[in-house]
Amino acid sequence: MTLALVPAPVSCSESGGPGFRLQEDTRIVGDVDAAARLTALIAARTGVTPCGGEGLLIDLRIQPGGAPESYRIVADAASIVITGADAAGLFYGVHTLGQLVTAEGGHYVIPAVRIEDEPRFGYRGVMLDVARHFLPVETVMGYIDRAAALKFNALHLHLTDDQGWRIHLDSRPKLTELASASAVGGDAGGFFSKADYRAIVDYAASRHMIVVPEVDLPGHTHAVGLAYPDIVEAPVSSPEVLAIVESHGGAAPTAGEPYTGMAVGFSSLRIHDEATYDFVADVVGELAAMTPGPYVHIGGDEALGTSPEDFALFMQRVTQIVADIGKTPITWHEAGAAPGIDPSTVGQYWGFVVPLYGMDENARRFVRNDAGLILSPADAVYLDMKHADDSPLGLTWANGPTSVERAYSWDPAGVIEGVTDEDILGVEAPLWTETIRTLADIDLMAFPRIAAAAEAAWSPAEGELRSWESFRVRVGGLGPLWSGLGIGFHASDEIPWAAR
Ligand code: ACM
Repeated sequence: MTLALVPAPVSCSESGGPGFRLQEDTRIVGDVDAAARLTALIAARTGVTPCGGEGLLIDLRIQPGGAPESYRIVADAASIVITGADAAGLFYGVHTLGQLVTAEGGHYVIPAVRIEDEPRFGYRGVMLDVARHFLPVETVMGYIDRAAALKFNALHLHLTDDQGWRIHLDSRPKLTELASASAVGGDAGGFFSKADYRAIVDYAASRHMIVVPEVDLPGHTHAVGLAYPDIVEAPVSSPEVLAIVESHGGAAPTAGEPYTGMAVGFSSLRIHDEATYDFVADVVGELAAMTPGPYVHIGGDEALGTSPEDFALFMQRVTQIVADIGKTPITWHEAGAAPGIDPSTVGQYWGFVVPLYGMDENARRFVRNDAGLILSPADAVYLDMKHADDSPLGLTWANGPTSVERAYSWDPAGVIEGVTDEDILGVEAPLWTETIRTLADIDLMAFPRIAAAAEAAWSPAEGELRSWESFRVRVGGLGPLWSGLGIGFHASDEIPWAAR
């Protein structure tokens, strides 16, 4: 039998003996947080809440010493022990156990297994774009729960873009006062208060995720001009950019008016004005102070209206500002073209699995810088690409539609020549929200492809389970768990979904 484990663990052996039968009197003991989480997970999957009593034991322990985030599960008919090397490892072991719950006859069992597991990469991210459409705190928390259960440990929030600014900052209050109300298609905007942001950071931390805030600079800044017009250029009207604007439909961008279309590349901050760097220092400084995680993402993508020389100057100064306040800058891979960026800068590659147009060369520069790369190949892990031509939501520009098989069939060390596991910080699956408005929309676009990204980020490169044929069966087995958790996944016909 193929167990429904995603991401695939490092090792899993079934003893063949009888499994552990879950009952109301099952006793879950040990770490209190992990016990509460496992109880809720079992209830969602089976409808039975283990209440304790005289029944058999599930023991949840933290035993320092193993690799960070690692865990072991030993299960047989008499007991289950999950041992985490740290709290995160125990959390992941609990979620693996939730995936092991199987309907058998009239009850639910955990098969007799021994699992040893640890991550391939230390950074395993998902990204939510809250700028094209604003997503409220509860939606973000719902996605944190979904991602953490698949062993993701970073939530990248794309907080700003041409269509709106989504985070209140005391140092620059006009950003939310004047630049947060708009969104794609003329929909309502919105923003996070500082208390909202803190609540997201705390919620993520309780699920072993860091938050990586992004302010996208120097392009993607039309909304900044609604609040601070003196530091932005007029919308670019080069033939290249005008063609992009036209192909995306909607009205052309106008200085000082909200932009509600879906085009990119037409906005830029003023590169040769010191007021711009005062702005960046305020914004990045305040965001960094609100963010316990080590990273601040400063964008750097699609700055089509900024000359290469100006772009290089800007990225150099801004990566320096981030590094000087003690954070590690992350930029999209384009900033690899800027020779003077701070050497601590991490690059995020969003080109295709087979790189085009020298994107891989820019990405490789970060490795030479010694900082490492996050891989987000857009034609595999951009979760907002349509599943099929007739998908009601989603876009297609990244070689879409993107099948589950394509989302699965790539390896992080196989994308950029010369880049090996040692150069790779991790993998991230972004979800852009031009067509996405709700958690139900997110579920429909992200699932099941998010599981493929989780496996690229967590699982060993090779092994018996690391094939598309194995993956599709394992994912299919998760259908009942996802349904129990209220996740409205896309029931792709590539996957043999289990009935119960
Ligand atoms: C991107 O998709 N422009 C990062």
